[in-house]
Amino acid sequence: MRVLILGGTREARDLAAALVAEPGMAVTSSLAGRVRDPALPAGETVIGGFGGVAGLRAFLRERAIDAVVDATHPFAATMSAHAATACLESQADGAPGGAVPLLRLARPGWTDRPGDSWHRVPDLETAAERARTLCPPGGAVFVTTGRRRLGPFAADPDRHYLIRAVDPPTDDLPPRHTVLLDRGPYTVDGETRLMREHGVRVLVTKDSGGSLTAAKLDAARALGVPVVMVDRPATTGPVAPTWTDVAGVLTALRALAHGDAEQPSAHQPRP
Ligand SMILES: NC(=O)c1ccc[n+]([C@@H]2O[C@H](COP(=O)([O-])OP(=O)(O)OC[C@H]3O[C@@H](n4cnc5c(N)ncnc54)[C@H](OP(=O)(O)O)[C@@H]3O)[C@@H](O)[C@H]2O)c1
Repeated sequence: MRVLILGGTREARDLAAALVAEPGMAVTSSLAGRVRDPALPAGETVIGGFGGVAGLRAFLRERAIDAVVDATHPFAATMSAHAATACLESQADGAPGGAVPLLRLARPGWTDRPGDSWHRVPDLETAAERARTLCPPGGAVFVTTGRRRLGPFAADPDRHYLIRAVDPPTDDLPPRHTVLLDRGPYTVDGETRLMREHGVRVLVTKDSGGSLTAAKLDAARALGVPVVMVDRPATTGPVAPTWTDVAGVLTALRALAHGDAEQPSAHQPRP
């Protein structure tokens, strides 16, 4: 069985490692190629995008892919939508089993806990506005939403922005900023120290979920720092059956490999 994993996440790498060890499974992982020095998954890796829905559909056909697992980051909405459409449309490409089955592996989002002060917002523009409301002039805002689309923060000359990202940001940045290049995982002690050192008054983050980057939320709670939480983008197009852990996806793939299911169904609620 030939499985294509749409990757770029820890979960995608864990799944690739598990599939490489699985008899009868051949795995290819794909990465967008955004990060300069990506953590590479086990098995074959293709890097750089497919060229839209048509390109992905051609890839599925040419490589005779039997199943796709969309294990992209919860904010990679374009790739997820492309995967859903390409798999649906692959039905017309004459594969023996009809449409290529699509499975989604997505970590659950974060939920606030007693002591948290979270402000959920729909996008980065609103996040930047809310951060300005919550942080007095002269204070510091800790931005952990990634290196792209930082423009909404750029027009503020009155606050200091501590921007943490894996690679250097390319957008315009606020006049007063510090860029911290790091990729985690992080500890609560380290995050607490960092926020104290920089006098952070507000944390801005995306609802990425997962444990690798959750320590900042514990640190913010302990320090009484409010969190501006950017909600996940809405899913557009068909929704694939979704699992929150690698084991569930593996079970579904095995069932597909043994012909037990034409289209897998998720046994766990969508996150
Ligand atoms: N967005 C985030 O916050 C975030 C955080 C951590 C990791 N990531 C990872 O970084 C990658 C890019 O994220 P994004 O938000 O820029 O994606 P996106 O906006 O959903 O996708 C934009 C384009 O990038 C290409 N692409 C994205 N993911 C790909 C993958 N796994 N394999 C091959 N091509 C891919 C596709 O190009 P074509 O149309 O040419 O196929 C896609 O149309 C994803 O793999 C994601 O898992 C994203």
